[in-house]
Amino acid sequence: MLERVDYDRTQHAGYAKGRALLPVSRDNWRRAFREHAGPGRVRTVLDVGSGTGRFTPVLADAFGCAVIGVEPAERMRAVAETEAARPNVEYRSGSAADLPVPDASADLALMFLVWHHVPDRAAAAAELARVLRPGARLLIATTLADRRKDLLLYRYFPRTREIDGALFPTRAETADLFAAAGFEESALVEVHHRSAESLAEYVERQRMRALSVYEHLTDEEYEEGMAAMEADAAAETEPVPVEAECDLLVLSRR
Ligand SMILES: C[S@@+](CC[C@H](N)C(=O)[O-])C[C@H]1O[C@@H](n2cnc3c(N)ncnc32)[C@H](O)[C@@H]1O
Repeated sequence: MLERVDYDRTQHAGYAKGRALLPVSRDNWRRAFREHAGPGRVRTVLDVGSGTGRFTPVLADAFGCAVIGVEPAERMRAVAETEAARPNVEYRSGSAADLPVPDASADLALMFLVWHHVPDRAAAAAELARVLRPGARLLIATTLADRRKDLLLYRYFPRTREIDGALFPTRAETADLFAAAGFEESALVEVHHRSAESLAEYVERQRMRALSVYEHLTDEEYEEGMAAMEADAAAETEPVPVEAECDLLVLSRR
């Protein structure tokens, strides 16, 4: 059993910088959010597990409406409040199973790389069903255990592939749980995400250790992977972007 990652412990320090969105990725995600927001007018959006506010302003730009970022880790929220503040964005304390908003008050919710951190998933699905209006969409950007991609990370830190298999639920597990809470699957799409413009830039980001999966590695495993990556980055003659297709599961509130 893998220990739960507490973002208030170390992740909050390097997350905003280590995981900053490149413009091309920001554009791809903004487009995907708009494409899959559903037919109704979007007036209130929730960013559940908003962290340091990486996607909260993107949602505000995409829909031009009020966005509420809900985040349980105080220090992640504090970074969002200083670095990702916008006039129509608000950050609140809460969690997926305890959302600080009234019944049927949101037209869209996003959970970006959050679902695998939620300990009480059935309660969270029921809570998301409570706060979303009928017909509203829930967008879940996540790895699915049975659809793991060939990530560069897995090459340098081989055990992270196995850890992801244990951490992330499968597509069927996720769909069944949400079906029981009152959602149906609308789509499962891939969004192109570029993490860095070159391996050298990727190495810089990895030095911040701002990936929760690193917390499950020993220091030796992390250092060994970093040394191999640094050697390859030093030998890089042409910059090769680090990118992958990421799954976005689109659910509709019945
Ligand atoms: C990988 S970060 C993603 C943050 C942000 N969505 C992003 O993509 O940058 C995961 C976030 O989920 C939060 N989290 C953990 N457990 C949660 C829960 N039960 N409900 C909501 N968020 C949770 C963590 O505190 C952390 O900020």
